[in-house]
Amino acid sequence: MILGDIMDYQAKIKELTEKINQANYEYHTLDKPTMSDYDYDRMLRELIALEEKYPAYKLPDSPTQKVGGIILERFEKVTHQTPMMSLSNVFNESELLAFDRRIAQVIDSYSYISELKIDGLAVNLRYISGKFVQAATRGNGTVGEDITENARTIKSLPLILTEKIDVEVRGEIYMPHKSFNRVNEERLTHNESLFANPRNAAAGTMRQLDTSIVAKRHLDMFCYTLVHAERYVSNQEEALKYLKHLGFKVNPYFHKHTTVQSLIEDIAHYDDLRKTLPYDTDGVVIKINEFNLHEKIGYTAKAPKWATAYKFSPEQAQTKLKDITFQIGRTGVITPVAELEPVFLSGSTISRATLHNEDYITTKDIRIGDIVNIHKAGEIIPEVIGPVLDKRTNQKPFVMIDECPVCHAALLRKEGESDYLCTNPECPGKHMNRLIHFASRVAMDIDTLGEKVVETFHELGFLNSISDIYRLKNHVEELVTIPGFGQKKIEKLVAAIEQSKQQTLDRLIFGLGIKHVGAKVAKILVQNYGSMDDVKAASFDELVNIPEIGEMIATSIITFFSDRNNQKLIDELRAFGLNFSYDKQSTINHAFNGKTFVLTGKLKQFTRTEAAEIIEKLGGKVSESVSNKTDYVLAGSDAGSKLTKAETLGVTILDEATFLREVHGKN
Ligand code: IVH
Repeated sequence: MILGDIMDYQAKIKELTEKINQANYEYHTLDKPTMSDYDYDRMLRELIALEEKYPAYKLPDSPTQKVGGIILERFEKVTHQTPMMSLSNVFNESELLAFDRRIAQVIDSYSYISELKIDGLAVNLRYISGKFVQAATRGNGTVGEDITENARTIKSLPLILTEKIDVEVRGEIYMPHKSFNRVNEERLTHNESLFANPRNAAAGTMRQLDTSIVAKRHLDMFCYTLVHAERYVSNQEEALKYLKHLGFKVNPYFHKHTTVQSLIEDIAHYDDLRKTLPYDTDGVVIKINEFNLHEKIGYTAKAPKWATAYKFSPEQAQTKLKDITFQIGRTGVITPVAELEPVFLSGSTISRATLHNEDYITTKDIRIGDIVNIHKAGEIIPEVIGPVLDKRTNQKPFVMIDECPVCHAALLRKEGESDYLCTNPECPGKHMNRLIHFASRVAMDIDTLGEKVVETFHELGFLNSISDIYRLKNHVEELVTIPGFGQKKIEKLVAAIEQSKQQTLDRLIFGLGIKHVGAKVAKILVQNYGSMDDVKAASFDELVNIPEIGEMIATSIITFFSDRNNQKLIDELRAFGLNFSYDKQSTINHAFNGKTFVLTGKLKQFTRTEAAEIIEKLGGKVSESVSNKTDYVLAGSDAGSKLTKAETLGVTILDEATFLREVHGKN
């Protein structure tokens, strides 16, 4: 290699770094994309390859840091140089006026800045000579945790500022709705518990030790405080502009007010605006604009007296409760459901909401015909909060039904429990829901057997029990004549059903719909017992000895397997050839056990999710990005930058055929 070439590479690395950073800034900070995804990916791939080859020329603000790849052992403690205070709250106009009066007592002339209160987690960022050096959580305000590596993956966080200054900047890390929905969808497919709201998701993500996971969760941030801003500017309005100039992402909705009246009007606007924003906000932060007044107004032990947060009331809506209907779940539990006059709430139209159980309705005295308040519990599930009593006319108190809405058998409410159960073991309603659950994505994952298909087949008499699923192939000739089905669709369905016989034992046990046995408990059971027969034979004492299993779950398992109908079902499933064992041994001995994989490109024989499941079943782990901890990259066609990175790092690359041979232990 001649010297000139190396110089060229150094220049090329610099050029790519600058171009990609500029594109990143325009896309993520300014929300004004200027480069196509194609060009972006191509340049990033080229930069990754060059940096691998000439690591000495990698620049401190290289965009390749944004993809993660670092695995931490723990989060170190950080003592904040300037404590991170909290804010006082006001909840209505009169409290806001009182806040303003307190200021007016000490100051003659002042202005306010209103800003959106972003609902995420507060972070302190440190820069030395304009270079990003540390990010820390708020913690208790004095001591937080070092989240530098995780913060580095946030695309709108500048690694180099436009000025070479030593500063601390504060802001809020949040998860945009789009990322939140995607993350939760993914968790649903992996049977993981869902995040209740974007704030929890952001906080949970920042607690990840694997920065690649953080990178793919697409967090974002807004900055709003420049610590010791008075050294550079004289008020908050200028500080926000200066933060923007330095390269930070600043929320565009901030306004200056010279009267409290205009501030109050503005809050109403913010309350409308927030419903249209792609991220969560929980109020408006009101700050005295002029820095020279801050000291005069002063501080309490916890919060400045020159600022406060006007908290929005959580979104609620009022609508008419048209009726209360009852749903029967797979375990026979009857749930009352509110049938509502459709109403728009937090981004979607709601026409049904949960009423939980009889006690919930009677304690709150909710009556059919009432106008009710509803909200989204945990920001997701619509729930009736209670009746608006002023608007009640002559509605009659609610009376719980005493027979099953589907089979009309008597309902039973056990002592000490709030749920009613249908007592008919043959209840078709129960069966239908059991069938839907059994076939669902989270259980046996029978691709074409969704809720609608189950309902249709059930109405036509083809599906009455779980084992009937495996008898459908004997009825192909009749099934193809059902409108909307046809030969191709039925063949696909039969193939999916046949394939489901190989599904793992934990999914099968989860699919059976044993009360209190969710995906996690099912997995624990198979890990402890290894086979359906052993789970079935487990004694109460044995079961409660497993740390994650309590008396309630153990009783439910014993009850399930001692039921004659369930025993018959298990025997039938065995006869159909379903997978009844969990092969721990083969996992331990398999070459993939303990190995880390990255999947890239299009695979022919299965989806990437399926390949990931195979790997996990054999004891391997699947990660998102390639690093020196990656053992194998499984590459399909059109593989991109991950493949290039794997090649430069010398990671073993498997094509699909080799992968399959390895799976079967034939290499
Ligand atoms: S200023 C002295 N501005 O709200 C505290 N905070 O409840 C100065 N927050 O810890 C904070 N958006 O995490 C400020 N535009 C904004 C904000 C904001 C969200 C959070 C921040 C703070 C909490 C206070």
